[in-house]
Amino acid sequence: MSEPEASEKGAVRSPLTDLLGIRYPVVQAAMGYVSGPRLAAAVSDAGGLGLIASATMSLAELEKAIEDTAGRTPRPFGVNLRADASDAAERARLIAFRRVPVASFAQAPKPELIAALKDAGVVTIASVGARRHAEKAAGWGIDAVIATGAEGGGHVGAVPTSLLVPQVVDAVEVPVIAAGGFFDGRGLVAALAWGAAGIAMGTRFLLTSDSPVANAVKQVYLAAGLDGTVVTTRVDGVPHRVLRTTMVDRLAQAGKVEALVRSARNAAAFRGVSGMGWREMLRQGREMRRGGLAWGQVLMAANTPVLLRAAMVDGRTDLGLMSSGQVAGLIGDLPSCAELIEAIMTEAGATLDRLEGVRKA
Ligand SMILES: Cc1cc2nc3c(=O)[nH]c(=O)nc-3n(C[C@H](O)[C@H](O)[C@H](O)COP(=O)(O)O)c2cc1C
Repeated sequence: MSEPEASEKGAVRSPLTDLLGIRYPVVQAAMGYVSGPRLAAAVSDAGGLGLIASATMSLAELEKAIEDTAGRTPRPFGVNLRADASDAAERARLIAFRRVPVASFAQAPKPELIAALKDAGVVTIASVGARRHAEKAAGWGIDAVIATGAEGGGHVGAVPTSLLVPQVVDAVEVPVIAAGGFFDGRGLVAALAWGAAGIAMGTRFLLTSDSPVANAVKQVYLAAGLDGTVVTTRVDGVPHRVLRTTMVDRLAQAGKVEALVRSARNAAAFRGVSGMGWREMLRQGREMRRGGLAWGQVLMAANTPVLLRAAMVDGRTDLGLMSSGQVAGLIGDLPSCAELIEAIMTEAGATLDRLEGVRKA
């Protein structure tokens, strides 16, 4: 991969910029139905790393998205995939064949996929919410990890960013990308101070003029306070941080039978959206069951893509699910990705200058 143009004005170097060949140590975290070609290319073009979220795309849609993104920017970008998808190996082959520079895993990676991607020259990144997951992925040869703290949006662990990042940095040799709650240059410097090589942001990039989400949906996020999110297991059986809405409160109050009926309806709708047949859904369900999930949770797994799609694609803030980090409570504007990254880097520079003053005093 090419070296970053370190002589360019404002470019910074970290083990992450060196690994990925990017100007700034800023990654756009994968967001289903949000981080498609437009957002991913805008971030990469601005000097960060954009990631296409592919779990909510069919293989054909992913191929088109890769082509579209490559047509929008000459700079490196990546694809986020699920290692437990039934066509994960095909997706990895497509990423390698299309010469996508980076592949990141949503949830647990698999050693054979890491090896296949690395053999093809693709840089691999794993998302982790706990130290033992980082250690496992590092043992399998992963090139970098994104450590996401409990304040982050979407599926989250229990450990806050301020504790998880230093713990993971001390546990693995590979570059650690800090995530969960980042939005500005002070946060970037804090992450670097903990020993991270850069930051990844989801909610902050959702709230840009380059994100494809409807303005009415963005306004709901902007109106949220720091207490505006909640972690619920009622969506798909695992902890998920979302904006607290009437629909989410209703989910929390729903009885078991009502929740199952709703899940079955969503599973049917997801089948329509993803083009996945019942046979394939049942096969994946059986695999998940072998992995320890109960049938109720298997059905619930379809809730996330269906409800997320209702908000992010159809703009239904009343019916849909809005995954969100707590950081939504600190965000009040919708800059372009280029404006955002420039402001972060300028503030990071000013923060470092301020700290130099502290050291000299
Ligand atoms: C709207 C939204 C959708 C998300 N969808 C996914 C996804 O499809 N796959 C995934 O691995 N993570 C997903 N996430 C989690 C992000 O990748 C990331 O971990 C999180 O946004 C980081 O925290 P932050 O929002 O505080 O920056 C999503 C987050 C949001 C806000």
